[in-house]
Amino acid sequence: MSAKIIINNLKKNFGDKQVLQDVSLEINHGESLVILGGSGSGKSVLIKLISGLIEPTSGSVLIDQQETTSLTQSKRDNLMAKFGFLFQGGALFDSLPIWENVAFRLLNQQKISKKQAREIAIEKLRMVGLSEKTADLYPSELSGGMQKRASLARAIASNPEIIFFDEPTTGLDPIMADVINDLIIANSKQLGATTITITHDMVSARKIADKIAMLYEGRIIWCGNVKDMYSSGNSYLDQFIHGRSDGPINFLQK
Ligand SMILES: Nc1ncnc2c1ncn2[C@@H]1O[C@H](COP(=O)(O)OP(=O)(O)OP(=O)(O)O)[C@@H](O)[C@H]1O
Ligand SMILES: [Mg+2]
Repeated sequence: MSAKIIINNLKKNFGDKQVLQDVSLEINHGESLVILGGSGSGKSVLIKLISGLIEPTSGSVLIDQQETTSLTQSKRDNLMAKFGFLFQGGALFDSLPIWENVAFRLLNQQKISKKQAREIAIEKLRMVGLSEKTADLYPSELSGGMQKRASLARAIASNPEIIFFDEPTTGLDPIMADVINDLIIANSKQLGATTITITHDMVSARKIADKIAMLYEGRIIWCGNVKDMYSSGNSYLDQFIHGRSDGPINFLQK
């Protein structure tokens, strides 16, 4: 397996607040990485750095062997075309019907016809188990679970090579969460995509992940195969995956 994404010594400060101290990770082509970590540990910041939505203070992100920090705007746009995002909270545009949400990039960046974009949107909605009727509804008319599915349809709409899922199952009932997990797995496999998922939900993590990385105090304190997660011997990872309040993890938000 070849490396799709290589992160070296990534550091991110906001003012004098150090969020990421020194993060290094390698993600292979077609692999599914799950990032674990407490609230505020920098998980969303990390995927924003990997995807270039924000710039690191220092360090390097290589995608397909190409350095992606400090790219020119046009090269950045080309790179962005490889990515799909499912943002924390879904983040659909309230003023647009579902199909235009799903086809947003196709309409705005790839300049394909409205008719064709709508057809693709409906196909993607079907892939996540939403009927054609959903296409003309607005986000506020959908349940939370349906909104997550629509967000997933948007994330896969432009056949991305790399998909970022930020808390895809948070706030869903266990069955809907499992449906979303299955959709993530099925769609990622179908696209052959490399995926990075953030989740607090260990059931989802076990199901989705090939590899697990745990972020704590700005560093990856454990990274390994999902099957080795419960025998890691790492007391921080153990505390987190068993959800114990007692242990070495300091929950005080700095
Ligand atoms: N644009 C920003 N400016 C200043 N501080 C920021 C910015 N973005 C994130 N932070 C800070 O970085 C830290 C990590 O935030 P992040 O959103 O990555 O947490 P997280 O691990 O995703 O948490 P959660 O599980 O609650 O989503 C937080 O302390 C947050 O306040
Ligand atoms: Mg977050």
